[in-house]
Amino acid sequence: MVKPLRKAVLPVAGLGTRFLPATKAMPKEMLPVVDKPLIQYAVDEARAAGIEQFCMVTGRGKTALIDHFDIAFELEATLAERNKREALALLRSEAMPPGSISTVRQQVPLGLGHAIWCARTFIGEDPFAILLPDDLVLSNTPCTEQLVKVYNETGGNVLAISEVPPAQTNRYGIVKVGEVKGDLVEVTGLVEKPAPEEAPSNLSVIGRYILLPEVVAYLSQMERGAGNEVQLTDAMAKMIGHTPFHGLKFEGKRFDCGDKVGFLEAQIAFSLARPDLADSVRTFLKNYVNS
Ligand code: UTP
Repeated sequence: MVKPLRKAVLPVAGLGTRFLPATKAMPKEMLPVVDKPLIQYAVDEARAAGIEQFCMVTGRGKTALIDHFDIAFELEATLAERNKREALALLRSEAMPPGSISTVRQQVPLGLGHAIWCARTFIGEDPFAILLPDDLVLSNTPCTEQLVKVYNETGGNVLAISEVPPAQTNRYGIVKVGEVKGDLVEVTGLVEKPAPEEAPSNLSVIGRYILLPEVVAYLSQMERGAGNEVQLTDAMAKMIGHTPFHGLKFEGKRFDCGDKVGFLEAQIAFSLARPDLADSVRTFLKNYVNS
């Protein structure tokens, strides 16, 4: 029996430099795709996978993320007064149970690994998921739920992985592949941002992970890796061989919303997946493309 997964860490302390000036006074994770901020997609996805406790690793200028999950009493009262039932029901359906979100500060963005280490007290002795809100996945079954299904069978660490163009391995954490069973891949090595000629495969880790708490001990070593940052990939690599370690070629498409083109593509794909918007979006897209 594996320990049930109930916790998720959401690292949101990055500077979001690729989205300046939008991210000057607003966190990147509050950027909306259609009508929902990135952080809300991540929380909804995690809750759908049975996660009940959240820890946001925040930094300066990130209070909008915390406020987003608060109850907006004045707004709710005004909506009720104006009989805006649908809007009110939407807000209420997304309300988080009291005490389910905690935050820690990463005072200096020293890397994703360092951000996760900042959540060590929250993690304690439990397995936990990590969701990077700037990675969005459009799928039939939410990506984290797909990982949880695997975790419940294999235990250990489970990463969402997807193929990238071989020339782009230097942008991602790349997996070395052992035994393959359908969509499930045994992870026998991990390298952060390898040059294409040194990459062990073209399967990259995306921003969805299930990890055992042991990773914190490796993160505590504070070794600097690619980009002189404390890399989560390097700490995960140290667990290989000690514990089951798998990658899942998940069903669905991933959008890198930390990148301008990826973000724009997500707007299109998510709006085309919405029955209330699909027709009008398809029509205007055709007009643009044909002009
Ligand atoms: P990115 O690599 O996208 O960095 O981080 P960034 O700072 O957010 O954006 P750019 O590259 O400057 O435009 C991936 C994820 O890791 C978090 C980010 O918030 C994002 O969710 N992160 C990164 C931290 O929480 N702390 C860090 O030190 C670095």
